[in-house]
Amino acid sequence: MPLAFSTTRSINPDQFASVLRACSLGGRRPVDHPDILAAMLENANLLATAWDGHNLVGVARSVTDFAYCCYLSDLAVDERYQNRGIGKELIRQTQARLGDNCKLILLSAPGARDYYPKIGFSRHDSAWVIEARGNIS
Ligand SMILES: CC(C)(COP(=O)(O)OP(=O)(O)OC[C@H]1O[C@@H](n2cnc3c(N)ncnc32)[C@H](O)[C@@H]1OP(=O)(O)O)[C@@H](O)C(=O)NCCC(=O)NCCS
Repeated sequence: MPLAFSTTRSINPDQFASVLRACSLGGRRPVDHPDILAAMLENANLLATAWDGHNLVGVARSVTDFAYCCYLSDLAVDERYQNRGIGKELIRQTQARLGDNCKLILLSAPGARDYYPKIGFSRHDSAWVIEARGNIS
């Protein structure tokens, strides 16, 4: 069965945790906190997903106004499915939902630093973060 992509299907916190755990992002996201995962899904407004049949194999979760800026918070592809163009296609699907004047912005995980320049992102030398008050990451 060919892979299917969607920007309209929703997923539940268990599915989200599974795909995060199936790649290195699992160590950098609150996979043991279903309440936080639920809020991440409920309050994000653009979710691109990749499916092998009923199995979720990739996700791109963004928060956006669709017109000016889009923060791509989590891009994750199940390790068994990596290097098949799924990450690139999830970003393409995300961008296709955005207006022409909308920028895509993200903070890269260390292991993906060399990925984004390959697929058309340019490095910004002036990104700034105020870390969360709590210690769950
Ligand atoms: C990074 C990630 C999303 C890429 O998804 P993917 O589906 O494997 O990547 P694609 O198949 O779209 O790759 C496109 C190109 O980038 C390359 N690439 C993939 N992962 C890469 C990485 N981590 N670093 C550098 N290049 C990478 C591929 O080899 C491919 O190159 P090619 O076109 O020359 O063959 C995926 O590997 C992943 O989930 N990694 C773990 C979680 C993570 O770090 N996510 C990013 C959080 S910011």
